[in-house]
Amino acid sequence: GKGAFDHYMLKEIHNQSTSLSKTIRGRVDPDEGKVALDELDPEILDGVENVHLVACGTSYHAALFGARMLTDAGVRARVFRASEYAKMAGPTSDGTLVIPVTQSGETADTLSALRTATERDASTVTVTNVVGSTAAREADESVFIRAGPEIGVAATKTFTSQVVTLILLSQKIAAELPDASPREDLSELLAALEQIPNHIDHVVETSRAEELASRLLEYDAYFFIGRGMSRPVALEGALKFKEITYEHAEGFASGQLKHGPLALVTSQTPVFGLFTGEDAEKTVTNAKEAQTRGAEIIGVGPADGPGVAESDAYLEVPDTHPVCQNLLANIQLQLVSYHTAKQLDRAIDKPRNLAKSVTVQ
Ligand code: M6R
Repeated sequence: GKGAFDHYMLKEIHNQSTSLSKTIRGRVDPDEGKVALDELDPEILDGVENVHLVACGTSYHAALFGARMLTDAGVRARVFRASEYAKMAGPTSDGTLVIPVTQSGETADTLSALRTATERDASTVTVTNVVGSTAAREADESVFIRAGPEIGVAATKTFTSQVVTLILLSQKIAAELPDASPREDLSELLAALEQIPNHIDHVVETSRAEELASRLLEYDAYFFIGRGMSRPVALEGALKFKEITYEHAEGFASGQLKHGPLALVTSQTPVFGLFTGEDAEKTVTNAKEAQTRGAEIIGVGPADGPGVAESDAYLEVPDTHPVCQNLLANIQLQLVSYHTAKQLDRAIDKPRNLAKSVTVQ
């Protein structure tokens, strides 16, 4: 049950230190700079030349993050919305590895993309939460995110575990491919991942998202901007927000703002700026362009980050590895969405018109 929590979503947000510990247990060795994914037969990676990630919704945002990790490691990677895959993938061969990312393992569009990949001779490794799901049964190989059951329709802990699993898988793939190599700072990243459960607890315990939410009700729209590795976090922040508050929310690459969306910005459109990771300063510049048009800027980043002075409100994340800062920023945004939805008296665990598992195309 929900225990002491008002909603499963809040319970699942709080549970993330535990679920993420399970995701990484036995899989990271910071001293050796090595990743172990025991259930993955490394032979599946023989001859891989490029990677396609396919997913829907929140899982698509995790896939974007995974693709960035692969690209940084020198692996050719593309991401597709699963519903677009058959028409947009172009030629694939047995050198293509397709990674369907799906919490439930039952999403119709993602299964369809998986079947398309198999028909086109690609090899497939699904990243899923559900052992025995259709995706796990049909893919050549599976890597499990070990987040445990998620009841809230809004994906929270499974997103966090998907991202971390994809970080690990990306480094495994990079280690096997001749033209790629794991990150030079892999040891530091793995050490930071071991610290994330503590950091998550800290964020959840100290977050000021609830008081912020009470000030931010009933605006015209809510925008979320990020760049590079924080872009998927901005997109996910907006998806979560619209899904459970029913307020209009959009996520943008921060560099895209002045190519159109800036026309929407007024004093009635708060802008959440993801000031995390190496691209934070450019996002601060873009946020200031919105601030000049009257928007309130809510920065999310470390205590001494580049956007603190510029922000009208600021949600802090621990000053850890830049990759991990993005995950912690996402948890702040989960809390903002939750508390906003709660104060608007929405049906948080079962938002209108949505289902946990979308089994029709
Ligand atoms: O089970 P899946 O990960 O394949 O589900 C994909 C989406 O339907 C899912 O992530 C959806 O976007 C979430 N409800 C968002 O919170």
